[in-house]
Amino acid sequence: MVRLVLGIETSCDETGAAVMDETGVILGESLHSQKEVHLKTGGIIPTIAQQLHRENIGRVVQEAMERSSISPSQLSAVATTVKPGLALCLGIGLDFSLSFVKKHQKPFIPIHHMEAHALTVRMLQPVVFPFLVLLVSGGHSLLALARGIDDFLLLGQTLDEAPGDAMDKVARRLSLIKHPKCSTISGGQAIELLAQDGDRLKFHFRPPMGAHYDCNFSFAGLRNQVKMTIQKKEAEEGVEPGTLLSCVNDIAAAMQHTVAFHIAKRTHRAILFCKAQGLLPSFNPTLVVSGGVASNQYIRKTLKIVTDATGLDLLCPPSKLCTDNGVMIAWNGVERLREGKGILSYTDVVHYEPKAPLGVDITAEVEAAAIKLPPLKLKIMD
Ligand code: KG4
Ligand code: ZN
Repeated sequence: MVRLVLGIETSCDETGAAVMDETGVILGESLHSQKEVHLKTGGIIPTIAQQLHRENIGRVVQEAMERSSISPSQLSAVATTVKPGLALCLGIGLDFSLSFVKKHQKPFIPIHHMEAHALTVRMLQPVVFPFLVLLVSGGHSLLALARGIDDFLLLGQTLDEAPGDAMDKVARRLSLIKHPKCSTISGGQAIELLAQDGDRLKFHFRPPMGAHYDCNFSFAGLRNQVKMTIQKKEAEEGVEPGTLLSCVNDIAAAMQHTVAFHIAKRTHRAILFCKAQGLLPSFNPTLVVSGGVASNQYIRKTLKIVTDATGLDLLCPPSKLCTDNGVMIAWNGVERLREGKGILSYTDVVHYEPKAPLGVDITAEVEAAAIKLPPLKLKIMD
């Protein structure tokens, strides 16, 4: 009998559920995205996100179950994101799941959202441990070495905000929602779209943390630089904040380039650190890139220059699986079920954790190694 797992995700702004068999075949899935609502309010308001999860979770889980044509009694386990994420949102998914497993007498598998992002790629192809992971989205920015399904080394993370968040804030400052091409897409997508017709050399933004030889990220300073440039341009053009500037394409191109450059430099250093420490396999060493920002083609191309220069394979799951969804949670449940790790039959002690680091934090060791990068031209031709 093939075992089946129901996966449930509510940690941020997507209510997702999926039923998967233990070979990784998706039998049914459903996803309710809150992104359009949050786009209108100019960012995620946790109480609104919580309310939307509450309104949708029952239907989303039911849809995933119906599409898979299985009944709850056929499930081997329920896997749900319990960390990290927005407290109010995690609470909805956890409460729902705990009453579901109680009612149907099923084991429960608590899932770490970042571990799930990191392992999603293994659902699609047999990527063996250890491999390097870069997670970049609206809420995450980190580099880690995946050594096993519950064994990670954290090499670097953001000291302030995530790249998607910085691009979303700049897009809002530029009022891109008023741009005919950008009214329904995320800030990051808008920046990528506008950058295609922009000249990045028209503006220069200082890449963050150039004098820090570690793998941490910072995007708040860059976001401020861009905002100061916008303010200056508004004054020059004599327009009020909120008016679409004539140079939005160039600003988008310059910001996108600096974000890509910063991410690429930190990733390059992480690769060299892992190689120096013998942490990567000599056969087919791999960099997996995931998260909403990973769908940015300019950033991918910049990363490809780094992986080509260092001899790594670059793997990005399709966009649909890079962003939050129930499938990646079900897959993490399957991986745990197969290895018999973290499967609970007693759930009274389960709590959600809004903050939860990914694996063992070795960022200080990476910083102490102070690896200087060899020259590498990060120039995208087209
Ligand atoms: O993974 P995701 O759906 O949600 C979380 O943040 O967890 O990622 C959404 C983020 C948003 O900040 C959005 O602006 C950014 O990813 N994003 C992009 C692109 N598509 C989405 N950033 C840059 N380029 C893109 N094409
Ligand atoms: Zn996520």
